[in-house]
Amino acid sequence: MSLDAQIAAVQAEIDDAPISDAEAAEAFRVRFLGRKSGAITDLFSQLGTAPPDQRRDLGQRLNALKQSAQGRLDAGLAALATETTSGATDLDLTLPGRVPAPVERGSLHVLSQTLADIQDIFRSFGFAVARGPEIEDDWHNFSALNFPANHPARDMQDTFFLEPPPPDGRGVVLRTHTSPVQVRVLEQTEPPVRVIAPGRVFRNEAISYKSYCLFHQVEGLVVDEGVSFADLKALLQAFARAFFGASDGPAREARMRFRPSFFPFTEPSAEVDVWWADDALPGGGRWMEILGSGMVDPNVLTNVGVDPERFTGFAFGMGVERMAMLRHGIDDIRLLYENDVRFLKQF
Ligand code: DAH
Repeated sequence: MSLDAQIAAVQAEIDDAPISDAEAAEAFRVRFLGRKSGAITDLFSQLGTAPPDQRRDLGQRLNALKQSAQGRLDAGLAALATETTSGATDLDLTLPGRVPAPVERGSLHVLSQTLADIQDIFRSFGFAVARGPEIEDDWHNFSALNFPANHPARDMQDTFFLEPPPPDGRGVVLRTHTSPVQVRVLEQTEPPVRVIAPGRVFRNEAISYKSYCLFHQVEGLVVDEGVSFADLKALLQAFARAFFGASDGPAREARMRFRPSFFPFTEPSAEVDVWWADDALPGGGRWMEILGSGMVDPNVLTNVGVDPERFTGFAFGMGVERMAMLRHGIDDIRLLYENDVRFLKQF
């Protein structure tokens, strides 16, 4: 076959050869443009045997053939590239974007909610909010509150000492209650005083369904001329109505009782219980202690430089965990500290 005829035949093959995928493109390149044994290289090598007067023309046609093969290959590769990037077959531009699993929105811990509610109620009664340190000295946590050194009343508050207590028992402690804030406020403020002091307190107690080594209290203190126990009762009753009355928990009725009690820093003293309704219990429920209270002992007023002949006051300290448990029917205090989301997201 003449070179001329072979050129025509290879051109026809080039026009027909499929470039449907990357493999076919490579086969095309080797078959037509391969340097060693490609069809076009082969034709070029025959050029020297053609009649001299035709070589120039045949050379030009071979170059054109090579260009046409290269052109088809380039076009085929470009088509394959756009196909894979635009994914013409499987790209759906109407699908929503790929986002990570949605982050669940959190909420305030049930204790934070309870604290906020308690504070809101007392603010509406005209109380200011005071705070004190969680690491306390003996004076504020005990002595100024009329707990003499080595007095058995200190035993009621199983204390974490930050250092081994000295022989007189007066050491640096994690505060066992929020009552030291009473002392701090009265040391700095002239009566009339009307404050609450929310915060964390710490006790070395056996952990059970109703006690934990740390918990929260809200202290209350009112000191003025002519303050009486009747004021204390009225205030706490109004508070219980506002706090429990607003909920649909088991203590909806907010049944409350005052029980005589003893605290070194109040005289007389009372503990307040709220009825915990529970059909599973004999009698349909039980009384649950939520706070201690009483008239501020004159010794405490004297300790902080307030004249007990002129001023009287009352104080109370409530357990925030107890309040939350009563309001929501939570029967184990430990649930409040385990941070199990299944529990927390119920509130
Ligand atoms: N501080 C006491 C406690 O944690 C509770 C308490 C009782 C506080 C009587 C008071 C109070 O302010 O008047 O056990």
